[in-house]
Amino acid sequence: MSYLLILGAKSDIAKAVAREYAKNGYDIYLAARNIEELLPLSQDINIRYEKEAKRVIFDALDFKSHQAFYDSLDPKPIGVISAIGSLGIQEKAQNDFEKAQKIIETNYVGCLSILNIIANDYEQQKSGFIIGISSVAGDRGRKSNYIYGSAKAAFSAYLSGLRNRLHDANVQVLTVKPGFVNTQMTKGMDLPAKLTAEPEDVARDIYKAQQKGKNVIYTKWMWRYVMMIIKMIPETLFKQWF
Ligand SMILES: NC(=O)c1ccc[n+]([C@@H]2O[C@H](COP(=O)([O-])OP(=O)(O)OC[C@H]3O[C@@H](n4cnc5c(N)ncnc54)[C@H](OP(=O)(O)O)[C@@H]3O)[C@@H](O)[C@H]2O)c1
Repeated sequence: MSYLLILGAKSDIAKAVAREYAKNGYDIYLAARNIEELLPLSQDINIRYEKEAKRVIFDALDFKSHQAFYDSLDPKPIGVISAIGSLGIQEKAQNDFEKAQKIIETNYVGCLSILNIIANDYEQQKSGFIIGISSVAGDRGRKSNYIYGSAKAAFSAYLSGLRNRLHDANVQVLTVKPGFVNTQMTKGMDLPAKLTAEPEDVARDIYKAQQKGKNVIYTKWMWRYVMMIIKMIPETLFKQWF
């Protein structure tokens, strides 16, 4: 049995990832704060793909519980993906430190806390893969979401360093940078159709990239070039335009 551990399993992207990996022969740990709502997905995976989908309670902000959470997984997963995220509301977070702190801790500190534990185990085992869902928002700060973006920038830098460290231990670290994705997080937003992916597209991109041993992907793929251009705009113009 080869288990994939999905952190933040109630996310729309995570659910699509669960189906994609189950379809390709993996058993799944669905880890989330509230696992009741994951029963239909777990049953669907059992029936449709004849794979296990065990639901496990996990709170990214309960840092002290993370070691016991990982120790409790039997068998250990051969790979992990973090789909944890919270966009928050930029304007509120600018004026209320507790809200800013929650965004930073959810998108960065909580992910670092659990992935540190898993990375240490995989390094010893000399096998495994770690996938972190970051964001294009971490590539350049913008006034509309720079607190979220700064946490994603930190997460991307963390994954880059982890990849560097674990290379010799034969552990793959894949950074995923979605642009716009049609999920709960972006519900009600007016997104440009050509630049917006469905969760199933993102899941396929992730699976393919992980199987090929890639390091960093943008999804949809054209975001790599969109961000290349956005990063090249001089600050003098950027602060006026965006
Ligand atoms: N949608 C986009 O356009 C987009 C773009 C770039 C990057 N991303 C990233 O893609 C990933 C998946 O997001 P999504 O779009 O699928 O949005 P989503 O449906 O809002 O998923 C976010 C998930 O994070 C979970 N989460 C939040 N706080 C948590 C905590 N303390 N402990 C455990 N889980 C927690 C949420 O769980 P609950 O359901 O319990 O709240 C939710 O399942 C995120 O990392 C997001 O930042 C999304």
